[in-house]
Amino acid sequence: MEFRVTGRARDLRGMIRVPGDKSVTHRALVLGAMAAGSTRLRGALRAGVIDAMRDCLEALGVNIEGLDKDEILVHGTEWQSPDRLLDCRNSGTTMRFLMGALAGSTISATLTGSPGLSRRPMSRVAEPLRRMGAQIAGSNGSDQPPLKISGSPLNGIEYEMPVSSAQVKSAILLAGLRAEGRTQLREPIASRDHSERLLRHLGVTVTRSENTLSLEPIQAPLSPFELKIPGDISAAAFPMAAALLVPGSEIVLHNVGLNPTRIGLVEVLRKMSAQIESDSLTTIDGEPTGNLMVAFSDLKGIKVQEEQVVSMIDEIPIFTVVATQAQGETQIRGAAELRLKESDRLSSMTTELRKMGARIEEHPDGLTIEGPTPLIGTQVSSHGDHRVAMALSIAGMLASGETFITDAEVVRESYPNFLTTFRSIGAELS
Ligand code: S3P
Repeated sequence: MEFRVTGRARDLRGMIRVPGDKSVTHRALVLGAMAAGSTRLRGALRAGVIDAMRDCLEALGVNIEGLDKDEILVHGTEWQSPDRLLDCRNSGTTMRFLMGALAGSTISATLTGSPGLSRRPMSRVAEPLRRMGAQIAGSNGSDQPPLKISGSPLNGIEYEMPVSSAQVKSAILLAGLRAEGRTQLREPIASRDHSERLLRHLGVTVTRSENTLSLEPIQAPLSPFELKIPGDISAAAFPMAAALLVPGSEIVLHNVGLNPTRIGLVEVLRKMSAQIESDSLTTIDGEPTGNLMVAFSDLKGIKVQEEQVVSMIDEIPIFTVVATQAQGETQIRGAAELRLKESDRLSSMTTELRKMGARIEEHPDGLTIEGPTPLIGTQVSSHGDHRVAMALSIAGMLASGETFITDAEVVRESYPNFLTTFRSIGAELS
């Protein structure tokens, strides 16, 4: 499927509800599946990556009901060895979380995934888990899928994480829940802390002192829970950027997760002179949320370092589009992790935005972007990456002439209502 964006958009206006947070939905599904009884999730994301997790959990004997559009019931139970491979499709979070959750279980399962997922690094999870006593065997002696996890007794560890990755951290915490003794983790820069917040919400002892986290194992199965999940700031980033860049725009993003470890983009945009106001700030089930009001703004270029990159890791593709329209130079550094996502996002964005006339230079760990540059519509590729497809759609709204984005159906992975949402605020996208 191809998206067609009909040139420069007129002002975008209206109120948007973005889909439920992907990271929180993943965590809630796994922990709900591990709990003894029925867990109810409201505001959950229903999208491709969540279907991958759901199918794997169902193969483990967990019954999961989609009640309404964004409500899920998870009937947690003791997991059983599946009679089929667990297909994580293209979802890195699914594979890494299940590695951690299965490592200390009493069953065996084999995780597999798409060719794209098989190219992404799994040793970063397998190695610390093995230090805890996990039995993980990849294909041909590597840590590449298919990965067979044979559940075994684990010990807590003290582990210095070489990269700031919430997926790695969460996999170790999931394993640590059933380990003997405390698990301590140190991360170079604090990554998103949804796992810690949700575990605390469930009564698990997780403490943090600077960048060191401590988790105490649980003595009895987790209790089932109810959770209200906020809108995903990583999805909100697309309408937010569009409103900032399309003249005359003014939109409201309703009930968005504003966890401090996730709002790097908002902070950086504000420093670039973006008009982004917030209201109705509150904390729901351990996660800060609120509404964001975003209006067209004249933006200035900026330098973004690794400390900020970690808290806007999934927003770099759309931020690159924003930078093409900011006055002066924007530098992004300390972003080498972007090369290990659904595509090499530094390379995908450079290649495609250059086709539209953008001035971007690629570095091993980042980008330098010159702005403002008028963009020209043409045919561009999503590289099979949902965030690249959505970022290029916004670029198309700023361009003269039509933009065609190939393999755009991949947006279903995280934002199934992307087209209808944008049409509802006046964008011409089909
Ligand atoms: C995620 C963490 C990030 C992010 C991904 C979701 C999570 O990955 O890119 O989309 O839910 O923990 P890394 O932990 O690999 O940086």
